[in-house]
Amino acid sequence: MTRLDDSPAGARMLDRAHPRAAPVVIRVSAEHLDVPFGLGTAVPRLSWQTEAAPAWSQHGYELSVQRAGAGEERFAVDSAEQLLVPWPAPPLHSREIATVAVRVTGADGAASDWSAPLTLEAGLLDPLDWTATGIQPPWPEDHSDDDRRPPLFRREFELADAPRRARLHVTAHGLTELEINGRRVGDDILAPGWTVYQDRLRTLSYDVTDHLTAGGNAIGAWMADGWWRGRYGFDGGTLNIYGTDIALLAQLEIERADGTVEVIGTGTDWVAHPSPIVKSSLYTGETFDATLVPEGWTRPGFDDSAWQPAKVAEFAPGTFVAAEGPPVRCTEELVPVAVRRTERGSVVLDFGQNFSGRLRVRAATGVGERLVLRHAEVLQDGELYTRTLRDATSVDEYRGSTGAIDWEPRFTIHGFRYAEIEGYDGPLEGLDVVGRVYHSDMRRTGWLSTSHEGLNRLHENIRWSMRSNFVDIPMDCPQRDERLGWTGDIQVFAPTASYLYDCSGLLSSWLRDLSAEQERFGTVPWYVPVIPGAPMWTPIQPAAVWGDAAVLTPWALWRAFADRELLARQYPSASAWVDQVTRLAGPSRLWNTGMQLGDWLDPNAPPDDPALAVTDPYLVATAYFAWSAETLSQTAAALGLTADAERYHRLHLEIADAFTAEWGGADRPLDQQTQTALALAVRFGLLRDQARRQEAGDALARLVRDGGHRVGAGFAGVNLLSDALTETGHADTAFALLLEHRSPSWLSMVDKGATTIWERWDSLLDDLTVNPGSMTSFNHYALGSVADWMHRVIGGIEATSAGYRTVRIAPRPGPLERASARLESGYGPITTEWSMQGEEFSLLVHLPTGVTGAVELPDGTVTQVGPGDHAFRASVEAVSGVA
Ligand code: BGC
Repeated sequence: MTRLDDSPAGARMLDRAHPRAAPVVIRVSAEHLDVPFGLGTAVPRLSWQTEAAPAWSQHGYELSVQRAGAGEERFAVDSAEQLLVPWPAPPLHSREIATVAVRVTGADGAASDWSAPLTLEAGLLDPLDWTATGIQPPWPEDHSDDDRRPPLFRREFELADAPRRARLHVTAHGLTELEINGRRVGDDILAPGWTVYQDRLRTLSYDVTDHLTAGGNAIGAWMADGWWRGRYGFDGGTLNIYGTDIALLAQLEIERADGTVEVIGTGTDWVAHPSPIVKSSLYTGETFDATLVPEGWTRPGFDDSAWQPAKVAEFAPGTFVAAEGPPVRCTEELVPVAVRRTERGSVVLDFGQNFSGRLRVRAATGVGERLVLRHAEVLQDGELYTRTLRDATSVDEYRGSTGAIDWEPRFTIHGFRYAEIEGYDGPLEGLDVVGRVYHSDMRRTGWLSTSHEGLNRLHENIRWSMRSNFVDIPMDCPQRDERLGWTGDIQVFAPTASYLYDCSGLLSSWLRDLSAEQERFGTVPWYVPVIPGAPMWTPIQPAAVWGDAAVLTPWALWRAFADRELLARQYPSASAWVDQVTRLAGPSRLWNTGMQLGDWLDPNAPPDDPALAVTDPYLVATAYFAWSAETLSQTAAALGLTADAERYHRLHLEIADAFTAEWGGADRPLDQQTQTALALAVRFGLLRDQARRQEAGDALARLVRDGGHRVGAGFAGVNLLSDALTETGHADTAFALLLEHRSPSWLSMVDKGATTIWERWDSLLDDLTVNPGSMTSFNHYALGSVADWMHRVIGGIEATSAGYRTVRIAPRPGPLERASARLESGYGPITTEWSMQGEEFSLLVHLPTGVTGAVELPDGTVTQVGPGDHAFRASVEAVSGVA
């Protein structure tokens, strides 16, 4: 199953729509959802794209809103806006369906045709809409035990006729999947996802009209502990994080042909039975006993007389929120590239790609009593190497087979490339195993392809690490006993992420969680959601780079997606962070107290102490303080908060001066000549004297060259190095750094066969053994943050205002022969395609309606362009002068 939207940039560019005479409105959407169903807001914002002749621009728009019983209403607005425009009509009420169409007018006042209609449906918007009663198993459980067997819940009911429409609204303490009449509801997994459950528990809505029939019907729910009460977190983890109950709240609303509504809600008329999933854990895996399946339990007519009435469970509807982004679902199936039998008789499979997901195993014969599936990211000496999983053992087990199997675990997920299957002694050809790739099903928006195969693989690896780690929240890694929303990791990666995929909904939801935890704990925690009471190796306390996610991540999203409401909503969190650091720094404006992770995983730090970086952690902290102050100033300006904008800008200048006074050298820009220190000074505007700043850039280029173009920066500097070099006239050194093969470098990972980005440059050492450090993962996206530079500098696509409304198109060829890039911005596709042919640099650019920009050629020529196709040429002498 290869998704169409994964086709390479070059292939896509050929089929872009030709400019049309009359404007056509396409892709009308609501909020950040591809399917606006079960909306959690009564006033969904609307967006659209327009295909029009190059000279056309929008002067106004008209929205048609059709709602049942209210007829059509039209709203005309004089505005050039087309992204997330306000809902024009009275608010939707719970369950309401509305159909929206858009037409636009240009300068001549002529209107386009109406767009194809978009149907929106609100979910349950009011806590009082929930009339169902939560249920939990009635049997006693030992809550100190990890191996509590989860329940199944079921209920039967009669319907006189097939319904006109039916909706199922669900949430759970734990994880759930429902079936109606033997058929699965939805195709999402790990519902209801992971949020700060105390404040925000997600609910999901499904259209189940087709699941129901006249006569007898049955509904059943599978359950598992999940994040709610399963053991989670490193250092042994925590059990019962949010509660000891495992509970379901489901409300099936059935609208009959005559318009009357019947509600089948969970309650004590549901019955419970222990599940054939005898154990399920996100970390350790799932055990399924086929002999314990109550055959036909989600079909009507099943004898449930041995089941017990469910017990009431408490839910807090005041905490319910609807999904803002896409659910986690299978987006691709990988077939193994190699399969072999070991001497022990087990089968080892290589999927050729590290990913997050799980196996589906099918065989007609040859399966023993117990089939055991193990997972690992790497092999060592031909064997699965599982030390990097730490306590997340990732073992799935199928018991009680009668020789045949067709199974995939339900409530667990693993990070792996290799798997080992024990318990199958049939022929290898008879074993059908696929790796099912699971992550939040975000729409792909960004492509980059170059003439350099290694760079292309690097870019793919970065994309795979994003896919593997965007599993409802932005995680650090998908395989070991963490999978936590580490704030520092997404802080450095968000600019890359928001080019590659539409991650706006997912990160919008996660930022709400960040704000909630920040309020609860009085600071931005290092990871979100926090595991309360976890045996952390450090208490929750402010730390730079990580805490700065409160400011820098909303800003990165604003640049990519232009969601003003999100920016405004996060403003209190962002300003609380900067204000807190201002207090911690005091009048000196230097943040030089407390524990700092600093330039975490600096390659010069010892494997067993990733925080022992060569760059002073307080220099890092002060630099980020300055940058967050400046970014907050820009945020305030974007929100029209002029006084705050000025105040935070002044703060930035004061911090910069304090920084220079503290760390500036007498005869050189900085006393500390490290890659991270110099990159921070350049990129964060810390040296206000421009000559000094240039000297710092020159010093950085020298340092990088003297170090053989190998990376010498950790989390705090790695995403800044390439830009710091480029901005100070050293793009050639930035390219050399990117193209270096000796470790630490990006391509050294590729050369060692990486298919994702590693946590450490040398997660695999030069002798191809696994790095002995306990922080050794093969799937961490942070070091992939360089893709942001690749998109802007090689692809040449850079936003100069929110949502790519205006752009700078400035590709630099460096030593490459060609590249093409495509970004599906909110306005439509922005594409570039350039090549060096002999002496000539040629560039094709396409901008969609609504976007204007400046094209900067390598010879320094700048041309203002608008929507449409543009071709440019420049001479090679000028190019080599720049690169
Ligand atoms: C995580 C990181 C994280 C770091 C901070 C690690 O265990 O995997 O990526 O940011 O801890 O302490």
